[in-house]
Amino acid sequence: AEVRHHDFVVQQTPVRRLCNTHNIITVNGQFPGPNIEVRNGDTLVINVVNQAQYNVTLHWHGIRQMRTAWADGPEFVTQCPIRPGGSYTYRFTIRGQEGTLWWHAHSSWLRATVYGALIIRPKQNTSYPFANPKREYPVLLGEWWNQNPIDVVRQATLTGAAPDISDAFTINGQPGDFYNCSSKETVVFPVKPGETNLFRFINAALNAELFISVGGHSMTVVGADASYTKPFTTSYLMLGPGQTTDVLLISDQPPSRYYIASRAYASAQGAAFDNTTTTAILEYDCGCIPGQGPSSSPILPALPAYNDTASVSAFTTSFRSPKPVKLPSPVDEHLVFTVGLGLFECSPGQICGGPNGTRFTASVNNVSFVLPSSYSILEAHKMAVPGVFSADFPSQPPVKFDYTSNNVSRELWQPVPATKVYKLSFGSVVQLVLQGTGIFSAENHPIHLHGYDFYILAEGFGNFNAATDSAKFNLVDPPMRNTVTVPASGWAVIRFVADNPGVWLMHCHLDVHITWGLAMAFLVEDGVGELESLEPAPADMPLC
Ligand code: C2O
Repeated sequence: AEVRHHDFVVQQTPVRRLCNTHNIITVNGQFPGPNIEVRNGDTLVINVVNQAQYNVTLHWHGIRQMRTAWADGPEFVTQCPIRPGGSYTYRFTIRGQEGTLWWHAHSSWLRATVYGALIIRPKQNTSYPFANPKREYPVLLGEWWNQNPIDVVRQATLTGAAPDISDAFTINGQPGDFYNCSSKETVVFPVKPGETNLFRFINAALNAELFISVGGHSMTVVGADASYTKPFTTSYLMLGPGQTTDVLLISDQPPSRYYIASRAYASAQGAAFDNTTTTAILEYDCGCIPGQGPSSSPILPALPAYNDTASVSAFTTSFRSPKPVKLPSPVDEHLVFTVGLGLFECSPGQICGGPNGTRFTASVNNVSFVLPSSYSILEAHKMAVPGVFSADFPSQPPVKFDYTSNNVSRELWQPVPATKVYKLSFGSVVQLVLQGTGIFSAENHPIHLHGYDFYILAEGFGNFNAATDSAKFNLVDPPMRNTVTVPASGWAVIRFVADNPGVWLMHCHLDVHITWGLAMAFLVEDGVGELESLEPAPADMPLC
């Protein structure tokens, strides 16, 4: 195992897309940011210097951060932000994870442009559990706004309305052939005929779940969220923001140029969404493409329709662990959390640009998450600072009702803004039902838990019914993930062991929803054993 050092300078950089140049926030002037490549077992030391005009933190999405919660990164949860001119060094070790993860800013909407791949190759002297690929490519799917994304969220927060949708989707930072002024820069992935290639897809988009297909080729899924999966073959993928999927693609088709295309899965009925398609090109690199110059049009795949929920569940329920797993049991904590949108009544003096003169909000168990500002929750916990958070997050929804209905009384859709955590004792086995609500609009929520991987036992539609739906649990080979897409008007059940002390944010990875409060945090207490407590805070922790 090695120690790998990186210097990340967060800075303002002029970047040209869609016929216009504007200043965006980057790391080291790169967009997307630098890719980090490590092996399982390595230690990363990343020195972040903030030369931008905004507060920033970086999050290593999906890294378990065993006993190193101080390096996790969500602002005001595990650390105070790095102020303009400040710096902070993130230090952590990769323990047992292999595959594709990524890193991104975890302050306001800075992650729109501040993100990169985090590729974890097998431990020294070990290899992939599948045929060694000849070529490997990270494929980062993103979203581009012609405006400054920070202004987009500021405007939405001011008015209480939904934020503007993006102007393009991107693949490795480029919108591709179907947008103005961008076809010259379309990303090309060269492959040799007959070879096996590993594509590492990452959904880094802010507010969009994305379908992905490749013209003429099927893909074999071999991993997701840095856990291997039982291989399965598919013609399309669907990734919620935060999720990654590793696929093998064999270049076994007639030598030509094929589009890799991606567009939105829009689960919210009637809501505006970016209805454009981004493309990159898979190009047979053999000097053998018959009668084709670089100007000929590549072969386009068929993508599922934007509202094709059946294709989404067919895909998400295809995942299995490679081998039967030893599922943690018995369950100590049976939790049920509702996740969904809501509306706030307009109070005097507020601008209320949401539906029917309200303001949008969102909640978990009717608590709309509020970030503290004077201390991070983790610091307040370790230093016993009172008044920063309370530990009374409800284990069940406060009232039972038809969660998927959009016809419920006002008390049910007007959540309580608060900073609450749910306390877990070290080593407890947690089973969590995530129940989507339809209070304002039912939609798919990609729920991400920091600091943990979890097993997904089942998902389904309607209200979760413990008596009948428990029979659907996969207790044999459930997949392991760090982000689960809870179906619109449906539910998902996850299980994990609280073996990592610290404060761990759990939230919808659609940034508009986290902005509205669709988040909560688990506080996992230290254990008694020598290696069961949080390490001391680094000396260079920024202050609030
Ligand atoms: Cu990928 Cu809390 O984030």
